[in-house]
Amino acid sequence: MNSPEEAAYDVVGIGFGPSNLALAISLEEHHANVLSNPVTSTFFERQQAFGWHRGMLLPSATMQISFLKDLVTFRNPTSRFSFIAFLHAHDRLAHFVNRKDLFPTRREFHQYLEWAAAQMSGAVSYGSSVTGVRLPAGVDRSGPGHLQLEVRDHATGVTRQVGARNVVISTGLEPTMPDGITRSENVWHSSEFLTRFDQADPGELRSVAVVGAGQSAAEITRFFHDRLPHAQVHAIVPSYGYSISDDTPFANQIFDAEAIDDYYYGGEATREAFWRYHRNTNYGVVDEADIQGLHQIQYDELVTGDKRLHHHRLTRVQAVERRGRRARVLLRSLHNPQPQELGVDAIVFATGYAPLDPAPLLGDLDRYCLRDASGRHRVTRDWRLVTTPDLPCGIYLQGGTEHTHGLTSALLSNIAVRSGEIADSVIRRRLGHETQMATAAAEV
Ligand code: FDA
Ligand code: NAP
Repeated sequence: MNSPEEAAYDVVGIGFGPSNLALAISLEEHHANVLSNPVTSTFFERQQAFGWHRGMLLPSATMQISFLKDLVTFRNPTSRFSFIAFLHAHDRLAHFVNRKDLFPTRREFHQYLEWAAAQMSGAVSYGSSVTGVRLPAGVDRSGPGHLQLEVRDHATGVTRQVGARNVVISTGLEPTMPDGITRSENVWHSSEFLTRFDQADPGELRSVAVVGAGQSAAEITRFFHDRLPHAQVHAIVPSYGYSISDDTPFANQIFDAEAIDDYYYGGEATREAFWRYHRNTNYGVVDEADIQGLHQIQYDELVTGDKRLHHHRLTRVQAVERRGRRARVLLRSLHNPQPQELGVDAIVFATGYAPLDPAPLLGDLDRYCLRDASGRHRVTRDWRLVTTPDLPCGIYLQGGTEHTHGLTSALLSNIAVRSGEIADSVIRRRLGHETQMATAAAEV
């Protein structure tokens, strides 16, 4: 019988979104043959099947990055898992090229991710939530060779323990609601939008509201207006109007792999400059074509006099109260000191997301993870939490590293390269360990 040490996987991934899917491919492609024994890995995903922000797969929404920033191409342009290989397998390559556009729809990119995930199905257990990462029982600060994950199987309700020499946490963004407002039957967050909309009776949605001035808000506002021709659509925007997302070439360089070094090795002033000058590449901003589309609707309604798209500028939501089957929304506008009220059948909070925070999963283990002066986790350049020396296991992050690695941390732009760097790091550390063991054996 194997010892627990031998039974532990080299890598256990928590979550199987694009980031850990890219890692699974990276481990399979390049690293299996580097060591005498291939790297062993497994991944756990709480969803029943692969799904990438399904609640926002609106019909015409397009990707915010080039198709070339797929799961593999920037690390291995000859990979069989590229978006081009996907198009070829589906006999669409020529048709795609004829579009003369680098940006597929999110629906098509989702198909691509599902296609890649299906080929990696042996690597992942779906319907499995990791509920915690712990030290193995009886081990405390004595240098454990592996960690233990608690994995709950949704079908059986059974929780089992899985050993890992390295853990890769890639659990994604957390939807955020404004303070004091909770989700309910007619108070939705954008992340669940399509699920909620599909459950509703469109005929009963006669007045709807969307909160926020980011990409999600703009897309949902447009969707409501198109799909509910009988409804009043209220856009509650904190700014004066939507701001454009900067995807011009020089600004786009902040998503290049080299920019991560500039951010990581730069001082506080450098990092602050990245955020100050380039936050508008991603947060609280909208694609230009979507802004033009919404403005055209507003103008057309001025022409016809049939106004049903209402923009509430410089306005934030203060509270939402339930009124029978409807919601009463309290608005606070910067140019009107009196709070205003709005009665709606549904309100969608497109109020963004919080970055991944590994602390809840790590629980007690978090005390082995060092933090900086601002209380944020310290992270090595190769995406590993800095831990005290008595914890030799690797805890890697894909996400939650905005403070150390910059703006790409929660995006797709760098996942091909990042997953390669994590796989390299795992292998480098295992080779180091094997060399140490061999030296020790030779000395005996
Ligand atoms: P992601 O959130 O995709 O996956 C995490 C996975 O972990 C989920 O499947 C979740 O179920 C699972 N999980 C969580 N906790 C778990 C647990 N305890 N146990 C097991 N499984 C668990 N970026 C970009 O570069 N270009 C783009 O076009 C877009 N478009 C876009 C649209 C929308 C609507 C949103 C909200 C975001 C984007 N993004 C984006 C940014 C987005 O973060 C990025 O595209 C990826 O989702 C990042 O992939 P990850 O795998 O890191 O997280
Ligand atoms: P976001 O960019 O963080 O925008 C959230 C918006 O909500 C901001 O305008 C914010 O304004 C506003 N807000 C927050 N609290 C508010 C309140 N109480 N009242 C009024 N407004 C409030 O979030 P997002 O639009 O969901 O985008 C998140 C990520 O998903 C981005 O990376 C984006 O590119 C991506 N995304 C991509 C696609 C696509 O690929 N097609 C689609 C949707 C989203 P303040 O900042 O002023 O608080």
